Amino acid sequence: MAMRIETRLLHAGAEPDPVSGAVAPPLILSTTFARHPDGTPLGGHTYIRESNPTQDRVEAALAAAEGGEAALVFASGMAAGVTLLETLPAGARILLPDDVYYGYRVAAADLLAQRGVRTDFVAMDDPAALDRALGAGAALVWIETPSNPLMKITDLRVAAARARASGATVLVDNTFATPVLQRPLELGADVVLHATTKYIGGHSDVAGGALVFARRGPLLEKTRHVRHIGGAIASPFDSWLVLRGLRTLAVRIRAQSASAGVVAAVLADPRAVSAVHYPGLAAHPGHEAARRQMESFGAMISFQLKGGREAALATVAKAKLFIRATSLGGFESLIEHRASSEGVHSTTPQDLVRLSIGLEHPDDLLEDLVQALA
Ligand SMILES: Cc1ncc(COP(=O)(O)O)c(C=O)c1O
Repeated sequence: MAMRIETRLLHAGAEPDPVSGAVAPPLILSTTFARHPDGTPLGGHTYIRESNPTQDRVEAALAAAEGGEAALVFASGMAAGVTLLETLPAGARILLPDDVYYGYRVAAADLLAQRGVRTDFVAMDDPAALDRALGAGAALVWIETPSNPLMKITDLRVAAARARASGATVLVDNTFATPVLQRPLELGADVVLHATTKYIGGHSDVAGGALVFARRGPLLEKTRHVRHIGGAIASPFDSWLVLRGLRTLAVRIRAQSASAGVVAAVLADPRAVSAVHYPGLAAHPGHEAARRQMESFGAMISFQLKGGREAALATVAKAKLFIRATSLGGFESLIEHRASSEGVHSTTPQDLVRLSIGLEHPDDLLEDLVQALA
């Protein structure tokens, strides 16, 4: 039976515990697992760095959510991405979005280059630019849509078809949209990445990452091997928290996305703001593509200030309800001067403020923004 996303989020990996009948998933902290006299594992597990029962449940749930055949979870979103990149041979060439999440930009410069993996940065929202970059051959095309923090939209059907026709593997960072609002595997991607630290965890109290693979096969197995040997695993408690967050994801992200639409529409007008980046606005260059591939437009907004860096810093400083902190995806709204958070590798405009819209009433958030911008 093909179930809808809300139902898949609740029921995948949620079988009652066969031993106790517990409905909530048991949290199994054991690092090692007993074997039969002939050496075969009693319950399918041997050692925590390889697999464990709590992790199995969250992986089953994430695979079902994205519509993939298998998932692997990691200690963070960066660990997920870097572990996959570790599978690439020396000499491989990869294409990253020109405004990729800054941690992966740093990974390309500081980790991949010394291993002989070449990176080119491409405006993924421009199919002609992608075609030109693919002309020289690429092992992996990395897409992030909506992107962090410029909220650029890449048409996934178009980009994935072109990249796959050239023989590249297509990875989509789906952290901002979540599987509730966008499912890249259905649009032609091979792998979906999540920083589960964000919306999937949902409470700003767990770090985690995930890769969901459209198909079982060599890439899944190579990545599983690097995770096992490198050890970038999700702990049982972190897996348990991510699983708990996943269960309520649909109602949270839909409410947060609806509030973000209200906030972005009002922000788009005031005198102090020169640009609002939110794909739900009709004026956003990616609005039509976002409508085609997203259920709604997500809960992240960025905007630029006419008064430049000083005005952006002053706006953040004056916020009262929004918490001044980096990160996103929790139930509480956050505000940050993005370039300051990113540091030396940042390519983010200095006049840009990023908002993560939480579950507060949108009118309260607007009142805070109006006084902060005044
Ligand atoms: C789009 C995106 N991908 C990946 C990451 C990395 O996740 P983590 O901080 O869990 O390593 C982040 C973190 O902010 C992100 O925003």
